[in-house]
Amino acid sequence: MRRIEGTRTLVHGQQAMHESGQLQSSKHNHSLTRKAGANLRAMHVLVTGGAGYIGSVTCEVLQEHRHTVCVVDDLSRGHRAAIPPGVPLEVCSILDAERMRAILERERPDGVLHFAASSLVGESMRDPGLYFRNNVGGMVSLLDACVEAGCRRVLLSSSAATYGDPDEVPIPEEAPTRPTNPYGESKRICEQMLEWYRRVHGIRYGSLRYFNAAGASVERGEDHEPETHLIPLALQAALGSGNALRVFGTDYQTEDGTCVRDYIHVVDLAEAHLLTLEKLQATERLVLNLGNGSGFSVLEVIRAVEAVTGRTVPWSAAPRREGDPPRLVASSARAREVLGWRPQFDSLERIVQTAADWMQEHPRGYEREPTG
Ligand SMILES: NC(=O)c1ccc[n+]([C@@H]2O[C@H](COP(=O)([O-])OP(=O)(O)OC[C@H]3O[C@@H](n4cnc5c(N)ncnc54)[C@H](O)[C@@H]3O)[C@@H](O)[C@H]2O)c1
Repeated sequence: MRRIEGTRTLVHGQQAMHESGQLQSSKHNHSLTRKAGANLRAMHVLVTGGAGYIGSVTCEVLQEHRHTVCVVDDLSRGHRAAIPPGVPLEVCSILDAERMRAILERERPDGVLHFAASSLVGESMRDPGLYFRNNVGGMVSLLDACVEAGCRRVLLSSSAATYGDPDEVPIPEEAPTRPTNPYGESKRICEQMLEWYRRVHGIRYGSLRYFNAAGASVERGEDHEPETHLIPLALQAALGSGNALRVFGTDYQTEDGTCVRDYIHVVDLAEAHLLTLEKLQATERLVLNLGNGSGFSVLEVIRAVEAVTGRTVPWSAAPRREGDPPRLVASSARAREVLGWRPQFDSLERIVQTAADWMQEHPRGYEREPTG
């Protein structure tokens, strides 16, 4: 597999820092450290869904910045092996209000990063109840536990799915939220709940609307079952470890007829969380898009995967999926201005390269827990 000049050094720099504990040896942490490090006192952070893809990478970045972390995850979709060494795990559903109260009471975190959710759009169209129970119901027990334990900072993993089919692209945060599936609706409700808990209980919050999270750190990457995300599926197709890719819709009003999406590197996402936590010391609420601000079509992603792997991605055209908007690209101007956030991985090939590197190192993903 080909490697793109520079990328490996950058992520290796991060690994060296992780092992030696020398913060300054990480190239990709520099912007965060320079802009925000001075004000970032060590915090204790509770991460729900920390055994999942974005949550586990965020735990890694939190540790690198000297914060202490504890994870709550029911392991329904995540992996114990994804949690960084030294981070305690409570195997618990966020739906278990009593245990959540006890955990929050014991941990008394400075902030909660709330990643735990069901997040498959197609599944939500078949079983909306699951999405309202897990995502909305889980948010109720989490927020009530935060109120009781006096934790006043909560960051929600929200989604571009709250916008539905937008009128304008790039999408600004003021755009109307009109979700086209129960998953997006559940996130919109969670955002509204946060606003009410702010007004009634003084909870400060960040609703972080991610676009398409992608890529990997050296140690942690994407291992979903089932996998529905384009980059890992295209990589698996190229490397022969998955089926030929199905491209859903080739007749959209876009340059090449396929859907256009905004891909944001998972480490850049993680760093935005740290900056938001810090910002909430002085601000009560932040609603922010987290994306790169540029869109890539499915065919462009396929070409990037082919460039990185040096292999062809076998694919076939499939019908459009219901509720898939042609174009979802973030305006990330607000996050850049308010947080001073600068995504480090601004090229699609660099993002794909990190995902390919991780997949090469972990061809079967994380070690699976024995079942039964
Ligand atoms: N991946 C993306 O591109 C993307 C885009 C927009 C928003 N998001 C949101 O970001 C968050 C993280 O996404 P991800 O891709 O890392 O998902 P993921 O499925 O890899 O991680 C979610 C984690 O939450 C855990 N979980 C689910 N329900 C739980 C419950 N009731 N109690 C305790 N733990 C529970 C799962 O076991 C899993 O470890 C989700 O809220 C998702 O909706 C993701």
